[in-house]
Amino acid sequence: MGYQHAVTAYRPLIAGNWKMHGVEASLGEARAIGAWLEESPASARVAICPPATLIARLSAAMIGLPVEIGAQDCHSEANGAFTGDVSAEMVAEAGARLVILGHSERRAMHGESDAIVARKVAAALGVGLEPIICVGESLEERKAGAAVTIVEHQVRGSAPEILAGRPFAIAYEPVWAIGTGLVPTLAEIEDVHGAIRDVLGSLFGQAAGAVAILYGGSVKASNAAEILSAENVGGALVGGASLRAADFLPIIAAA
Ligand code: PGA
Repeated sequence: MGYQHAVTAYRPLIAGNWKMHGVEASLGEARAIGAWLEESPASARVAICPPATLIARLSAAMIGLPVEIGAQDCHSEANGAFTGDVSAEMVAEAGARLVILGHSERRAMHGESDAIVARKVAAALGVGLEPIICVGESLEERKAGAAVTIVEHQVRGSAPEILAGRPFAIAYEPVWAIGTGLVPTLAEIEDVHGAIRDVLGSLFGQAAGAVAILYGGSVKASNAAEILSAENVGGALVGGASLRAADFLPIIAAA
């Protein structure tokens, strides 16, 4: 592989993205995950990102358990006339410590550009949230041989300078692999992750070696160990398979 930046020691991150799933009754699944991790500590950091409505209740339910809570988005402004939106401060106060930003579903359905994502990253850092910045190419872009170029461009546009010295993660999620059961080959994943490490190196120097670069898109128990063993893969962002403890725990155990 052509990447040049050394990887330094960091704890992998396995983050569950519940998307628009989860009501009070779902807290039991999260508690089961927390209880299991208390008994058998994982080598990875584990996070659950529920819908905004559940952040406070999930945080309360997880007190003392080794599971971090994340939000799935936040607005770039601190407050204002933005009906239906939530600010970084709001999700942080509710108990979130991380926030997923620039997920492809938000880029596609809410018109989020790299510039908007970068502003959200700044807002998140302003209240001490750790951003998980998502990037990934479409199927057309992959077929055109442009995956690496597209992702490099997204990282440059979505990861502002203000991230220097701050904890954050990048999640590479090919749009065509999300919720489809399709996954890139290990070589394809390593190609993109190596390119992301290089871009981070050019932006942040040595510190880039300690950034967890997650893979996301149809991660499940049966493919997690292989994907997580790939070079420069520092964890996973898991959608569908994070909703039930029975599906999520084997992925955590594979890290
Ligand atoms: P999936 O979603 O695991 O259901 O493919 C991943 C994501 O969108 O974060």
